Amino acid sequence: MLERADLLVAEATARRTQTNETGRAAVLLPFVAAFARDEPVHAIDLGASAGLNLCLDRFAYRYVTPGPDGVRETRLGAGPVDMVCEWRGDGPPAGAIPMIASRTGIDLHPVDVTDADQAAWLEALVWPEHAHRRERLRAAIDVRRGMDVAMIAGDAAALLAEVEAGLPAGPLVIWHTVALYQAPAEVHTELDVVIADLSRRRRVLRLGMEPVVGMPDTQVRVGPSFDRGRLAATAHAHGRWVAPAYP
Ligand SMILES: C[S@@+](CC[C@H](N)C(=O)[O-])C[C@H]1O[C@@H](n2cnc3c(N)ncnc32)[C@H](O)[C@@H]1O
Repeated sequence: MLERADLLVAEATARRTQTNETGRAAVLLPFVAAFARDEPVHAIDLGASAGLNLCLDRFAYRYVTPGPDGVRETRLGAGPVDMVCEWRGDGPPAGAIPMIASRTGIDLHPVDVTDADQAAWLEALVWPEHAHRRERLRAAIDVRRGMDVAMIAGDAAALLAEVEAGLPAGPLVIWHTVALYQAPAEVHTELDVVIADLSRRRRVLRLGMEPVVGMPDTQVRVGPSFDRGRLAATAHAHGRWVAPAYP
């Protein structure tokens, strides 16, 4: 390794540390499913990176809930991406996989996983000892390559209204996972205004999973504003577990 240190330093300084964690799909899925019910929903991911989580309906989920009588398991979906998540809730996380009508990702710097080099870099950013995450990422990249996902480069707040205006009628879920904590306050304020406005035209769910200052785990919040949103769950940052916050 040391004899290739110069190459490694050159590569690492030329590239950005920008990940895409597919385990977060297991956190999103129950909330998207509860919102969608039996209707196909348009999905917009703000800070989507490579857009892998926009394929969340094509992954296989195993939610496990340990209890006094053993482990309850809920299996949902099918496919090569194997999601295992501890669901710390009373009932099952969801009854069915939601139907997705369209998939759009907005990111300041979209990652193109059809490019072998960019996909390899994404893989390189997974910590070496996290073999399961790496396998899951590879499988998700394969799924994503076969799907129609629109990726748009730019700022989420600046582009959201235009993206929404281009979608056919139907309910819309806008989510962001471990992304907007990077954005300045003006972006949060502008997004709140845009989402409040488009919520007057169609049924909208805004679902944020973000780190919050002073909290050890990410918070999942719902509502037109993340900052003033209702706490729906706390979750492990890589989606290892979700603890729903019942009202
Ligand atoms: C830590 S990565 C998380 C990516 C993905 N959401 C996930 O959960 O794996 C944060 C992403 O947010 C994007 N991002 C940050 N601020 C943004 C903004 N204002 N508009 C669009 N994308 C943004 C970054 O470019 C990066 O891809």
